[in-house]
Amino acid sequence: IGQVVSSFNKMVEDLLESKREVEKSNEELRAARDSAEKRRNYIEVLVESLNVGIISLGADGEIVNLNKKAREFLELSPKDPPQKAVTLPSWVTLRDAIADLKKRPQQKKEILLTFRDEAKVVLAELIPLTREGISYPGSILIIEDITDLSRTQRIAAWQEVAQRLAHEIKNPLTPIRLSAQRIRKKLRDNAEDLNEAIYEGTTTIEREVESMMSMVNEFSRFARLPEIHLKSGSIADLVLAAALPYQNAYSKVSFSFNIPDNIPNILFDQEQIERVIKNLFENSIEAMKMSGEIRVSIFEKDKYVVISIKDTGPGIPQEIRTKMFLPYFSTKRKGTGLGLAIVARILEEHGGKIEVDNEYSEGAGLLIYLPR
Ligand SMILES: Nc1ncnc2c1ncn2[C@@H]1O[C@H](COP(=O)(O)OP(=O)(O)OP(=O)(O)O)[C@@H](O)[C@H]1O
Ligand SMILES: [Mg+2]
Repeated sequence: IGQVVSSFNKMVEDLLESKREVEKSNEELRAARDSAEKRRNYIEVLVESLNVGIISLGADGEIVNLNKKAREFLELSPKDPPQKAVTLPSWVTLRDAIADLKKRPQQKKEILLTFRDEAKVVLAELIPLTREGISYPGSILIIEDITDLSRTQRIAAWQEVAQRLAHEIKNPLTPIRLSAQRIRKKLRDNAEDLNEAIYEGTTTIEREVESMMSMVNEFSRFARLPEIHLKSGSIADLVLAAALPYQNAYSKVSFSFNIPDNIPNILFDQEQIERVIKNLFENSIEAMKMSGEIRVSIFEKDKYVVISIKDTGPGIPQEIRTKMFLPYFSTKRKGTGLGLAIVARILEEHGGKIEVDNEYSEGAGLLIYLPR
């Protein structure tokens, strides 16, 4: 009987042991489930609170789930099942974008979602579900609202247009005013060359007004910076014509030209290069306080035709030589600092450039390079 008792005891012991084991693994299971649950909750909260739209797509591109932001994008109410999204008008646009993104993975696509009373610019990105080399069927579509951002960019672009317009309208005004003043003076003095002054003055005024008109037209027609219209022509003729109103207007500024006859015709935008030259003349005349010399020469160098403009003013301090071409850099009380920035931009669009002539030291020297 002792044997029976002891084997019974052992059996009870074993049973208790296995019950403990079962309980233990139950507990482990529960803990694992709890932590999985916690993680799931965490991810859900995270995904829901993100400020980008997230749409998870199944293997066949069907919508499995979407977060709060994505519902907002699609105008899907919180109670609607995810599948309802495919019936919404905005889904068509998104579906096309997804098809596009599938062909070009790892790329983002800017799309326009239009709703009844507004339009949104969104950036869409498709991410296939893979982790550590294992890929799962389906993918995630991330959509980000960049409406405000692109609006800011557009505003910035507009500001540039407006600023350049303002600056370049200011430019032709100077020769116009100078021409008028000159005619009046000749008239008052009853000068012998009055007729000549009237002829030259009105020619200048007409030219400047025409240039201003075509500029304004271009700005307002396309709402962007003027495009360059390349035409073959003589850069020498252009430089001489650009200098004329200044020569007539400033009696204490003398111009000298060193232009060989054999400079080839090159391609350039007449009006824009004229503005380049005039910007430089204005800077020189201002720097020389309306009195001094401007020396213009044209020569060929490597693949460029170079226009050199030197003045006899105070020169350009070493420390501003790299900054002076940046927008808004000015040492003048009333300067906008846009003159040389516009010049640099126009030349860049021509495939040319502008540099300070570091070998010249009697004043400021600038070199304009235009491809030939
Ligand atoms: N010929 C020059 N001699 C000396 N300094 C110059 C000369 N040309 C340009 N600079 C310097 O470069 C700066 C920038 O010139 P930029 O034409 O861009 O602007 P700005 O002339 O000051 O303003 P805005 O063109 O609107 O009148 C000038 O403020 C001046 O300090
Ligand atoms: Mg200037």
